[in-house]
Amino acid sequence: MSAAREWLKQARSVAVLTGAGVSAESGVPTFRGAGGLWKRQRAENLATPEAFARDPKLVWEWYDWRRTVLAGLKPNPGHYALAELEKRTPNFTLITQNVDGLHELAGSRNVLRVHGSIWMLRCLTCGSEQQDRRASLPEIPPRCTCGGLLRPGVVWFGEALPTAVWRAAEAAARSCDLLLVIGTSAVVYPAAGLAHLAKSSGARVVEINVAETPLSREIDEFLLGPSGELLPQLISPERARRNAAAARFDGTRMPRRPVRS
Ligand code: APR
Repeated sequence: MSAAREWLKQARSVAVLTGAGVSAESGVPTFRGAGGLWKRQRAENLATPEAFARDPKLVWEWYDWRRTVLAGLKPNPGHYALAELEKRTPNFTLITQNVDGLHELAGSRNVLRVHGSIWMLRCLTCGSEQQDRRASLPEIPPRCTCGGLLRPGVVWFGEALPTAVWRAAEAAARSCDLLLVIGTSAVVYPAAGLAHLAKSSGARVVEINVAETPLSREIDEFLLGPSGELLPQLISPERARRNAAAARFDGTRMPRRPVRS
C-alpha cells in the first residue's frame, strides 16, 4: 500500500479501470465467481445480439430485473474515493466496464463507459437513444415513439465497443503514469488489454481485488482486499483512519442520563 500511495502522489496523469467488483459492496452482483450472474444464467442466452433477436422479451425481463435491483442501490466508499481522486488530479480518466451508473452517482465526471449504460435505451429502427431510469419499465419489450423495438444501451458479447469511447480509453491508458485496475476479473477483452497497454507504455499498474486475476503477477503491485475499504485507504488515508475510528466507537457512547431500572 505505501508504494502505491507514493506512486499516486507522484503521478501527474492517472487512469482507472473498474469492473463489477467495485460495485459489489453496494450490493451489485458480479458476473463471475461465487454468486456471479454467469453462474446462474448463460451469457449467450441474455447478453448477445443473437439472444435479443431470438427472444427480446426474455432479454428485457433480465435487464429490467437488473435495473430494478440497481435502482435501490447507492455508491460505496470506493466509488466516492475515486470521485475525490478525480477532483484533485488534473489529468484523470475513469474507464469503467460497469453499466450501473454508480460512479456518476458518486460524483465522478470524466467517465468512459466502455460497455455502455443499462439506463440508456436505443431504438433498432431509428437509432435514437434515450436515457430512462424507470425501474421497472411499463412495457416489456419497450418500444420507441417511432414504433421500433428498443434495446438496452449496453455492449453485448460479440459487439464492437463504442469507437470514440474506446479510443479515449486507449489514449488514457497509453499516456497515464499510473493505472489502477479495480474489481475486474480481467478476462474480458479488449478492456482487460488496457492494463497491458499502460504497462508497455511505461505506466505503473496497481490492482485491487479480493482475489488474484490473470493480471496480478504481471503488474507492479497487487492489493488484496475489498475496494470499498482499500480505495479510501489508498486515496485519502487520513480520512479513512478517522472514519474507521468513528465506526469503531459509534454506538458505544455513554447515554445522556443514567438508565434507571
Ligand atoms: N472489491 C474488489 N474486487 C472485488 C470485490 C470487492 N469488494 N468483490 C468482487 N471483486 C472482484 C472479483 O474477485 C472479480 O475478479 O471483482 C471481479 C469481478 O469480475 P467479473 O464478475 O468478471 O466482472 P468484470 O470483470 O467487470 O466483467 C467484465 O464481463 O460479463 C461481462 O460485460 C460484463 O462488463 C462485464 C465484463
